[in-house]
Amino acid sequence: MEVVQVLRMNGGKGETSYANNSLVQQKVISLTRPITEEAITNLYCRTLPRSLAIADLGCSSGPNTLFVVSEIIKVVEKLRKKLGHESLEYQVFLNDLPGNDFNTIFKSLPNFQKQMSCQMGPGAGPCLFSGTPGSFYGRLFPSDSLHFLHSSYSLQWLSQVPEGLDNNKGNIYMASTSPPSVLRAYYEQFQRDFSVFLKCRAEELMVGGGMVLTFLGRRSEDPSSKECCYIWELLAMALNDMVSEGLIEEDKMDSFNIPQYTPSPSEVKSEVLKGGYFSIDRLEVSAVKWNDYDSEFNPSIAFSDDGYNVANCMRAVAEPLLVNQFGDAIIDEVFRRYRKIISDHISKENTQFINVTISMKKSGHFII
Ligand SMILES: C[S@@+](CC[C@H](N)C(=O)[O-])C[C@H]1O[C@@H](n2cnc3c(N)ncnc32)[C@H](O)[C@@H]1O
Repeated sequence: MEVVQVLRMNGGKGETSYANNSLVQQKVISLTRPITEEAITNLYCRTLPRSLAIADLGCSSGPNTLFVVSEIIKVVEKLRKKLGHESLEYQVFLNDLPGNDFNTIFKSLPNFQKQMSCQMGPGAGPCLFSGTPGSFYGRLFPSDSLHFLHSSYSLQWLSQVPEGLDNNKGNIYMASTSPPSVLRAYYEQFQRDFSVFLKCRAEELMVGGGMVLTFLGRRSEDPSSKECCYIWELLAMALNDMVSEGLIEEDKMDSFNIPQYTPSPSEVKSEVLKGGYFSIDRLEVSAVKWNDYDSEFNPSIAFSDDGYNVANCMRAVAEPLLVNQFGDAIIDEVFRRYRKIISDHISKENTQFINVTISMKKSGHFII
Protein backbone atom coordinates (compact mmCIF):
# COMPACT_ATOMS: atom_id res chain seq x y z
CA MET A 1 0.00 0.00 0.00
CA GLU A 2 1.29 3.44 -0.96
CA VAL A 3 0.34 5.46 2.14
CA VAL A 4 0.78 8.80 0.37
CA GLN A 5 -1.76 7.73 -2.27
CA VAL A 6 -4.28 5.94 -0.05
CA LEU A 7 -4.34 7.70 3.31
CA ARG A 8 -6.86 10.50 3.70
CA MET A 9 -9.71 11.32 6.03
CA ASN A 10 -13.26 11.01 4.60
CA GLY A 11 -13.90 14.25 2.69
CA GLY A 12 -17.01 16.38 2.21
CA LYS A 13 -19.61 17.19 4.86
CA GLY A 14 -21.70 13.99 4.91
CA GLU A 15 -22.60 11.67 7.78
CA THR A 16 -19.29 9.76 7.67
CA SER A 17 -17.06 12.73 6.79
CA TYR A 18 -14.12 13.81 8.93
CA ALA A 19 -15.72 17.27 9.04
CA ASN A 20 -18.68 15.75 10.91
CA ASN A 21 -16.77 13.27 13.03
CA SER A 22 -13.75 15.04 14.46
CA LEU A 23 -14.99 16.41 17.78
CA VAL A 24 -12.48 14.34 19.75
CA GLN A 25 -9.64 15.81 17.71
CA GLN A 26 -11.13 19.27 18.29
CA LYS A 27 -11.19 18.60 22.02
CA VAL A 28 -7.49 17.69 21.82
CA ILE A 29 -6.69 20.96 20.05
CA SER A 30 -8.56 22.84 22.82
CA LEU A 31 -6.82 20.86 25.57
CA THR A 32 -3.37 21.63 24.18
CA ARG A 33 -4.19 25.25 23.30
CA PRO A 34 -2.35 26.71 26.34
CA ILE A 35 0.89 25.11 25.05
CA THR A 36 0.34 26.54 21.56
CA GLU A 37 -0.52 29.96 23.01
CA GLU A 38 2.60 30.03 25.13
CA ALA A 39 4.79 29.01 22.18
CA ILE A 40 3.37 31.62 19.78
CA THR A 41 3.48 34.36 22.44
CA ASN A 42 7.17 33.61 23.15
CA LEU A 43 7.93 33.46 19.45
CA TYR A 44 6.28 36.83 18.76
CA CYS A 45 8.07 38.51 21.65
CA ARG A 46 11.40 36.94 20.64
CA THR A 47 11.32 37.80 16.95
CA LEU A 48 8.81 40.70 16.54
CA PRO A 49 8.07 39.78 12.91
CA ARG A 50 6.45 42.20 10.43
CA SER A 51 4.85 39.24 8.70
CA LEU A 52 4.14 35.87 10.26
CA ALA A 53 4.36 32.62 8.27
CA ILE A 54 2.61 29.71 9.97
CA ALA A 55 1.74 26.19 8.83
CA ASP A 56 -0.59 23.48 10.05
CA LEU A 57 0.70 20.06 9.05
CA GLY A 58 -1.89 17.33 8.50
CA CYS A 59 -4.68 19.92 8.53
CA SER A 60 -7.34 17.57 7.08
CA SER A 61 -10.69 19.10 6.09
CA GLY A 62 -13.40 20.32 8.44
CA PRO A 63 -13.85 22.72 11.35
CA ASN A 64 -10.49 21.79 12.94
CA THR A 65 -8.49 22.91 9.90
CA LEU A 66 -9.11 26.61 10.42
CA PHE A 67 -9.74 26.41 14.17
CA VAL A 68 -6.02 26.15 15.05
CA VAL A 69 -4.98 28.86 12.66
CA SER A 70 -7.62 31.30 13.87
CA GLU A 71 -6.61 30.73 17.50
CA ILE A 72 -2.96 31.42 16.68
CA ILE A 73 -3.79 34.61 14.79
CA LYS A 74 -6.08 35.84 17.60
CA VAL A 75 -3.29 35.39 20.17
CA VAL A 76 -0.82 37.37 18.06
CA GLU A 77 -3.34 40.13 17.30
CA LYS A 78 -4.15 40.56 21.00
CA LEU A 79 -0.47 40.72 21.86
CA ARG A 80 0.49 43.16 19.13
CA LYS A 81 -2.35 45.52 20.12
CA LYS A 82 -1.35 45.30 23.78
CA LEU A 83 2.27 46.13 22.91
CA GLY A 84 1.18 48.89 20.50
CA HIS A 85 2.89 47.32 17.49
CA GLU A 86 1.94 47.80 13.83
CA SER A 87 -0.28 45.26 12.06
CA LEU A 88 1.19 42.09 10.58
CA GLU A 89 0.65 40.22 7.38
CA TYR A 90 -0.32 36.59 8.13
CA GLN A 91 0.73 33.88 5.69
CA VAL A 92 -1.01 30.60 6.43
CA PHE A 93 0.02 27.31 4.84
CA LEU A 94 -2.36 24.36 5.14
CA ASN A 95 -0.62 21.06 4.50
CA ASP A 96 -1.92 17.55 4.04
CA LEU A 97 -1.44 14.61 1.71
CA PRO A 98 -2.55 15.19 -1.91
CA GLY A 99 -5.77 13.12 -1.49
CA ASN A 100 -7.04 15.47 1.26
CA ASP A 101 -10.27 17.34 0.51
CA PHE A 102 -8.59 20.72 -0.07
CA ASN A 103 -11.56 21.87 -2.20
CA THR A 104 -13.90 21.96 0.80
CA ILE A 105 -11.34 23.98 2.76
CA PHE A 106 -10.82 26.44 -0.08
CA LYS A 107 -14.58 26.92 -0.50
CA SER A 108 -14.91 27.81 3.17
CA LEU A 109 -12.14 30.43 3.06
CA PRO A 110 -14.11 33.52 1.94
CA ASN A 111 -16.53 33.18 4.89
CA PHE A 112 -13.71 32.42 7.28
CA GLN A 113 -11.73 35.47 6.13
CA LYS A 114 -14.80 37.67 6.56
CA GLN A 115 -15.33 36.38 10.09
CA MET A 116 -11.67 36.82 10.95
CA SER A 117 -11.54 40.40 9.75
CA CYS A 118 -14.68 41.21 11.83
CA GLN A 119 -13.10 39.63 14.92
CA MET A 120 -9.72 41.29 14.38
CA GLY A 121 -11.27 44.71 13.83
CA PRO A 122 -10.00 47.62 11.73
CA GLY A 123 -6.27 48.00 11.19
CA ALA A 124 -5.51 44.29 11.16
CA GLY A 125 -3.28 42.99 8.37
CA PRO A 126 -4.35 40.49 5.70
CA CYS A 127 -4.51 36.70 6.21
CA LEU A 128 -3.20 35.01 3.07
CA PHE A 129 -3.92 31.29 2.68
CA SER A 130 -2.19 28.62 0.62
CA GLY A 131 -2.67 24.87 0.37
CA THR A 132 0.53 22.78 0.44
CA PRO A 133 -0.18 19.23 -0.69
CA GLY A 134 2.56 16.72 0.06
CA SER A 135 3.98 14.43 2.71
CA PHE A 136 5.53 16.03 5.77
CA TYR A 137 8.12 13.25 5.55
CA GLY A 138 9.79 15.36 2.90
CA ARG A 139 10.45 19.06 2.23
CA LEU A 140 7.29 21.17 1.88
CA PHE A 141 8.47 24.80 2.17
CA PRO A 142 11.49 26.92 1.13
CA SER A 143 14.47 27.12 3.49
CA ASP A 144 14.16 29.45 6.49
CA SER A 145 10.70 30.57 5.41
CA LEU A 146 8.43 29.75 8.37
CA HIS A 147 8.01 31.20 11.86
CA PHE A 148 5.70 28.64 13.42
CA LEU A 149 4.51 25.11 12.76
CA HIS A 150 1.62 23.29 14.34
CA SER A 151 0.43 19.73 13.94
CA SER A 152 -2.20 17.80 15.88
CA TYR A 153 -3.10 14.11 15.66
CA SER A 154 -1.21 13.66 12.38
CA LEU A 155 2.34 12.61 13.21
CA GLN A 156 1.35 9.21 14.52
CA TRP A 157 0.75 8.31 10.86
CA LEU A 158 3.84 6.67 9.36
CA SER A 159 5.14 7.17 5.83
CA GLN A 160 4.59 3.46 5.10
CA VAL A 161 3.47 0.23 6.66
CA PRO A 162 6.67 -1.08 8.28
CA GLU A 163 8.37 -4.00 6.56
CA GLY A 164 8.57 -7.36 8.34
CA LEU A 165 5.00 -7.65 9.68
CA ASP A 166 4.33 -11.08 8.08
CA ASN A 167 3.94 -12.69 11.49
CA ASN A 168 1.31 -10.25 12.76
CA LYS A 169 -1.56 -12.43 11.58
CA GLY A 170 -4.97 -11.79 13.11
CA ASN A 171 -3.85 -8.29 14.17
CA ILE A 172 -4.01 -5.06 12.20
CA TYR A 173 -1.72 -3.00 14.43
CA MET A 174 0.62 -3.63 17.35
CA ALA A 175 -1.32 -5.79 19.81
CA SER A 176 -0.75 -7.74 23.00
CA THR A 177 -0.32 -10.87 20.82
CA SER A 178 2.14 -9.27 18.35
CA PRO A 179 5.63 -10.82 18.40
CA PRO A 180 8.55 -8.57 19.49
CA SER A 181 9.82 -8.32 15.89
CA VAL A 182 6.56 -6.59 14.90
CA LEU A 183 6.83 -4.07 17.75
CA ARG A 184 10.45 -3.43 16.74
CA ALA A 185 9.56 -2.94 13.07
CA TYR A 186 6.91 -0.36 14.01
CA TYR A 187 9.27 1.50 16.35
CA GLU A 188 12.10 1.59 13.82
CA GLN A 189 9.75 2.99 11.16
CA PHE A 190 8.67 5.70 13.62
CA GLN A 191 12.32 6.56 14.35
CA ARG A 192 13.19 6.81 10.65
CA ASP A 193 10.11 8.90 9.83
CA PHE A 194 10.27 11.28 12.76
CA SER A 195 13.99 11.93 12.26
CA VAL A 196 13.35 12.87 8.60
CA PHE A 197 10.44 15.08 9.70
CA LEU A 198 12.64 16.95 12.20
CA LYS A 199 15.43 17.48 9.67
CA CYS A 200 13.03 18.88 7.05
CA ARG A 201 11.31 21.21 9.52
CA ALA A 202 14.67 22.44 10.83
CA GLU A 203 15.52 23.47 7.27
CA GLU A 204 12.21 25.25 6.77
CA LEU A 205 11.91 27.14 10.06
CA MET A 206 13.61 30.49 10.51
CA VAL A 207 16.08 31.14 13.27
CA GLY A 208 14.07 31.41 16.48
CA GLY A 209 11.11 29.60 14.88
CA GLY A 210 8.87 27.34 16.96
CA MET A 211 6.84 24.19 16.59
CA VAL A 212 4.08 22.51 18.63
CA LEU A 213 3.29 18.89 17.78
CA THR A 214 0.62 16.67 19.33
CA PHE A 215 0.76 12.93 18.70
CA LEU A 216 -1.86 10.37 19.43
CA GLY A 217 0.43 8.44 21.77
CA ARG A 218 0.71 6.60 25.03
CA ARG A 219 2.00 7.04 28.58
CA SER A 220 3.34 3.51 28.93
CA GLU A 221 6.73 2.41 27.63
CA ASP A 222 5.04 -0.74 26.30
CA PRO A 223 4.20 -0.14 22.62
CA SER A 224 1.53 -2.84 22.68
CA SER A 225 -0.16 -1.31 25.71
CA LYS A 226 -3.94 -1.21 25.67
CA GLU A 227 -4.00 2.59 26.00
CA CYS A 228 -2.83 3.00 22.41
CA CYS A 229 -3.65 -0.28 20.67
CA TYR A 230 -7.06 -1.22 21.97
CA ILE A 231 -9.13 0.85 19.56
CA TRP A 232 -7.50 -1.04 16.63
CA GLU A 233 -7.78 -4.39 18.44
CA LEU A 234 -11.54 -3.87 18.57
CA LEU A 235 -11.61 -3.16 14.84
CA ALA A 236 -9.56 -6.35 14.29
CA MET A 237 -12.26 -8.25 16.26
CA ALA A 238 -14.94 -7.04 13.84
CA LEU A 239 -12.78 -7.95 10.81
CA ASN A 240 -11.82 -11.39 12.23
CA ASP A 241 -15.50 -12.17 12.84
CA MET A 242 -16.16 -11.42 9.20
CA VAL A 243 -13.20 -13.61 8.15
CA SER A 244 -14.62 -16.52 10.14
CA GLU A 245 -17.98 -16.02 8.40
CA GLY A 246 -16.31 -16.00 4.98
CA LEU A 247 -17.18 -12.35 4.34
CA ILE A 248 -13.52 -11.27 4.22
CA GLU A 249 -10.65 -13.28 2.70
CA GLU A 250 -8.18 -14.44 5.33
CA ASP A 251 -5.06 -13.51 3.36
CA LYS A 252 -6.41 -9.98 2.89
CA MET A 253 -6.85 -9.72 6.66
CA ASP A 254 -3.38 -11.16 7.31
CA SER A 255 -1.68 -8.66 5.05
CA PHE A 256 -3.49 -5.60 6.43
CA ASN A 257 -1.63 -3.40 8.95
CA ILE A 258 -2.30 0.15 10.01
CA PRO A 259 0.58 2.57 9.18
CA GLN A 260 0.59 4.24 12.59
CA TYR A 261 2.87 4.46 15.61
CA THR A 262 1.62 5.94 18.88
CA PRO A 263 4.81 7.00 20.69
CA SER A 264 5.53 7.56 24.36
CA PRO A 265 6.89 10.94 25.55
CA SER A 266 10.38 9.48 25.99
CA GLU A 267 10.42 8.10 22.43
CA VAL A 268 9.46 11.53 21.06
CA LYS A 269 12.07 13.25 23.22
CA SER A 270 14.79 10.78 22.27
CA GLU A 271 14.40 11.52 18.51
CA VAL A 272 14.39 15.29 19.11
CA LEU A 273 17.59 15.07 21.17
CA LYS A 274 19.25 12.76 18.62
CA GLY A 275 18.49 15.20 15.80
CA GLY A 276 19.88 18.14 17.75
CA TYR A 277 17.98 20.72 15.69
CA PHE A 278 15.50 21.79 18.38
CA SER A 279 15.49 22.62 22.07
CA ILE A 280 12.49 21.36 24.01
CA ASP A 281 10.35 23.87 25.92
CA ARG A 282 7.57 21.51 26.96
CA LEU A 283 6.72 17.84 26.74
CA GLU A 284 3.30 17.04 28.16
CA VAL A 285 0.78 14.25 28.25
CA SER A 286 -2.99 14.65 28.35
CA ALA A 287 -5.95 12.35 27.84
CA VAL A 288 -9.36 12.55 26.26
CA LYS A 289 -12.16 10.01 26.54
CA TRP A 290 -13.04 8.09 23.37
CA ASN A 291 -16.57 9.35 23.78
CA ASP A 292 -15.76 12.84 25.01
CA TYR A 293 -18.51 14.54 23.05
CA ASP A 294 -20.09 17.81 23.94
CA SER A 295 -23.68 17.45 22.82
CA GLU A 296 -24.31 21.12 23.57
CA PHE A 297 -21.69 21.97 20.97
CA ASN A 298 -23.17 19.59 18.40
CA PRO A 299 -26.85 18.86 19.20
CA SER A 300 -27.16 16.22 16.44
CA ILE A 301 -25.00 13.77 18.41
CA ALA A 302 -27.09 14.04 21.58
CA PHE A 303 -29.45 11.43 20.12
CA SER A 304 -26.81 8.90 19.10
CA ASP A 305 -24.99 6.39 21.28
CA ASP A 306 -21.30 6.40 22.22
CA GLY A 307 -20.54 3.35 20.08
CA TYR A 308 -21.98 5.14 17.05
CA ASN A 309 -19.97 8.30 17.66
CA VAL A 310 -16.65 6.53 18.27
CA ALA A 311 -17.15 4.10 15.36
CA ASN A 312 -18.00 7.01 13.06
CA CYS A 313 -14.94 8.94 14.23
CA MET A 314 -12.77 5.91 13.37
CA ARG A 315 -14.63 5.41 10.11
CA ALA A 316 -13.88 8.98 9.03
CA VAL A 317 -10.20 8.24 9.67
CA ALA A 318 -9.77 4.66 8.47
CA GLU A 319 -12.38 4.09 5.73
CA PRO A 320 -10.12 4.86 2.73
CA LEU A 321 -7.45 2.44 4.07
CA LEU A 322 -10.05 -0.32 4.59
CA VAL A 323 -11.67 0.24 1.19
CA ASN A 324 -8.26 0.03 -0.46
CA GLN A 325 -7.64 -3.38 1.16
CA PHE A 326 -11.09 -4.99 1.31
CA GLY A 327 -13.23 -3.08 -1.21
CA ASP A 328 -16.22 -0.91 -0.35
CA ALA A 329 -18.96 -3.58 -0.30
CA ILE A 330 -18.17 -4.68 3.29
CA ILE A 331 -17.63 -1.26 4.88
CA ASP A 332 -21.12 -0.64 6.31
CA GLU A 333 -21.10 -4.12 7.87
CA VAL A 334 -17.60 -3.65 9.36
CA PHE A 335 -18.67 -0.46 11.09
CA ARG A 336 -22.03 -1.87 12.20
CA ARG A 337 -20.13 -4.62 14.07
CA TYR A 338 -17.39 -2.25 15.29
CA ARG A 339 -20.03 0.09 16.73
CA LYS A 340 -21.51 -2.78 18.74
CA ILE A 341 -18.13 -3.97 19.99
CA ILE A 342 -17.13 -0.41 21.01
CA SER A 343 -20.45 0.20 22.84
CA ASP A 344 -19.84 -2.95 24.81
CA HIS A 345 -16.31 -1.99 25.83
CA ILE A 346 -17.07 1.65 26.63
CA SER A 347 -19.70 0.54 29.10
CA LYS A 348 -17.17 -1.65 30.93
CA GLU A 349 -13.87 0.24 30.73
CA ASN A 350 -12.44 3.71 31.06
CA THR A 351 -11.36 4.18 27.44
CA GLN A 352 -9.11 7.14 26.62
CA PHE A 353 -6.89 8.46 23.87
CA ILE A 354 -3.51 9.64 25.17
CA ASN A 355 -2.00 12.81 23.70
CA VAL A 356 1.73 13.56 23.70
CA THR A 357 2.49 17.23 23.02
CA ILE A 358 5.94 18.69 22.45
CA SER A 359 6.76 22.38 22.11
CA MET A 360 10.20 23.26 20.80
CA LYS A 361 12.21 25.92 19.02
CA LYS A 362 14.92 25.77 16.43
CA SER A 363 18.12 25.70 18.39
CA GLY A 364 21.49 27.30 17.61
CA HIS A 365 23.70 30.03 18.99
CA PHE A 366 21.87 32.54 16.76
CA ILE A 367 18.58 32.41 18.71
CA ILE A 368 17.62 35.84 19.97
C1 LIG B 1 -6.62 12.66 12.25
S1 LIG B 1 -6.30 13.83 11.02
C2 LIG B 1 -5.97 15.28 12.00
C3 LIG B 1 -6.47 16.52 11.33
C4 LIG B 1 -6.42 17.79 12.16
N1 LIG B 1 -5.06 18.18 12.43
C5 LIG B 1 -7.19 17.64 13.44
O1 LIG B 1 -6.58 17.72 14.52
O2 LIG B 1 -8.40 17.45 13.37
C6 LIG B 1 -4.66 13.41 10.47
C7 LIG B 1 -4.28 14.10 9.17
O3 LIG B 1 -2.88 13.91 8.93
C8 LIG B 1 -2.70 13.73 7.56
N2 LIG B 1 -1.42 13.08 7.30
C9 LIG B 1 -1.05 11.82 7.63
N3 LIG B 1 0.19 11.57 7.18
C10 LIG B 1 0.61 12.70 6.55
C11 LIG B 1 1.81 13.06 5.87
N4 LIG B 1 2.82 12.20 5.74
N5 LIG B 1 1.91 14.31 5.36
C12 LIG B 1 0.89 15.20 5.49
N6 LIG B 1 -0.27 14.91 6.13
C13 LIG B 1 -0.41 13.67 6.64
C14 LIG B 1 -3.91 12.87 7.16
O4 LIG B 1 -4.13 12.90 5.77
C15 LIG B 1 -5.00 13.52 7.98
O5 LIG B 1 -5.68 14.52 7.28
